[in-house]
Amino acid sequence: MIIGSISEDKNTEKRIAITPDILKKYKSIGVDVFINKGYADHIGYNDSDFEKEGAQILNNKDDVILKSNILLQMNMPEEDKLHLFKENQTIVGVLNPYENSDKLKILLNKKVNCFSLELLPRITRAQSMDILSSQANLAGYKAVIDSFALFEKAIPMMMTAAGTISAARVLVVGAGVAGLQAIATAKRMGAIVYATDVRMASKEQVESLGGKFLTVEGSENLETEGGYAKEASDDFKKKQEELLTETLKKIDIVICTALIPGKKAPLIIKKNMIMSMQSGSVIYDLAAIQGGNAELTKVNEIVNFQGIKIIGEKNILNKLPVSSSNLYTKNIFNFFINLYDKEKKQIVINLEDEIIKNTKVE
Ligand code: NAI
Repeated sequence: MIIGSISEDKNTEKRIAITPDILKKYKSIGVDVFINKGYADHIGYNDSDFEKEGAQILNNKDDVILKSNILLQMNMPEEDKLHLFKENQTIVGVLNPYENSDKLKILLNKKVNCFSLELLPRITRAQSMDILSSQANLAGYKAVIDSFALFEKAIPMMMTAAGTISAARVLVVGAGVAGLQAIATAKRMGAIVYATDVRMASKEQVESLGGKFLTVEGSENLETEGGYAKEASDDFKKKQEELLTETLKKIDIVICTALIPGKKAPLIIKKNMIMSMQSGSVIYDLAAIQGGNAELTKVNEIVNFQGIKIIGEKNILNKLPVSSSNLYTKNIFNFFINLYDKEKKQIVINLEDEIIKNTKVE
C-alpha cells in the first residue's frame, strides 16, 4: 500500500496532509509514503525530515500521483493533474463537491474513489476525524488573536497609578466550535465576552466558558436533529437585530462565526448596526467566504468603514499552517485507519459504515 501526497498551490494553501510525525504512524502499520521534492519546506519541514521517517521523495508531483494507491490532500488537485489518476485509485481530502463538481466528474468517470472529509457525520466515532471541528477551533482562536492585534486599545482591565483602563468587550456571533474557542480565547486574555446563537443548547456552553449569553426573547430553539442551526424566521431576525443593535453600541470587537450548513451565511450585522458602533472597533468575519455575517465584509480585505475595521480572510488557517496541518493530518490518519484493512493490506469500502458512506462522493 502506497500513500502519496503532493504539494498544494502554496500561494493559496499552506496546510499539508502528511507531516513527519504522522508519517511514523503510517510506516508503523506497514504503509509506504511518497511525497514530491520540497513538499512542505514552506512551513519548515524539509525533505530530509520526511526521509528520516522513511518517506520516499520523488522528483515531481506527477510521479507521486502515478505511483500511489491513495492520495491524501488538503484540496482537490489542479485540473491538469486529473488525467494521471486511474481506476481504483483513491483520493481523500476536502474536495468541496459543490464547487468542484466538474473535476469530480472526471475522477468519478475514471472510477477513482473520492472521499471528502467535510461530509463526515458529526457522530462520536467520527470525532477524531472531524476536520470541521479541528480547523474551526483554530480559526476561532486566530480570529481573536488577529482582531486583538488590530484593536488599538488594551484588552484586559488594568488598574495603574495613572488610572484605570477598562476591559475590552467582545461579542461572538454563533457559538459553535469556532465561536466557543473564540469565547475561551478572548476570556483568557481578559476581555468581557458576550455571545449569541440560535441554538439554545449553546447557552450553557457559553456560560461555562464565562461568557454572557444574549437570548433573543420569545424565540424558539432553531436546532436541527443533527445539532446544526436552522434558518431563522423573519420575526426572529427582527428581534435579533434589535437586541444586537443595542449591544453593539458598547462592543469593541465582534467575532462572526454563524453558519447554516449548505446555505449562504446569515446576514446578521447590517450596515446600520455597524454605523452605531464606536470608531476603532473591529469586526472579524469568519463567515466571509460563505457570504459573510456582516454586510460590509469583503473577502481578503480589511475594510475601513468610519474607523471600524472589518476583516474577511479567505483562509485564516494559512496563518496557522503548522498547527492546522498537525490536526488535519491526525484527522486524515484516523479516517484512513477506518478505511484500511491491515490483514489484506488494502482499503475496504464498506458502505454500511456511516463514516465511509457519507464521505464517499458518488
Ligand atoms: P457551524 O459552523 O455550522 O455554525 C456555527 C454556529 O453558528 C452554530 O452554533 C450555529 O447554531 C450558529 N448560527 C447559525 N445561524 C445563526 C444566527 N442566525 N444567529 C446566531 N448564530 C447562528 O456549526 P459547528 O461549529 O460546526 O457546530 C454545529 C453543531 O455540531 C454544534 O451543535 C456542535 O456541538 C456539533 N458538533 C458535534 C460534534 C460531534 O462529534 N458530535 C463535533 C463538532 C460539532
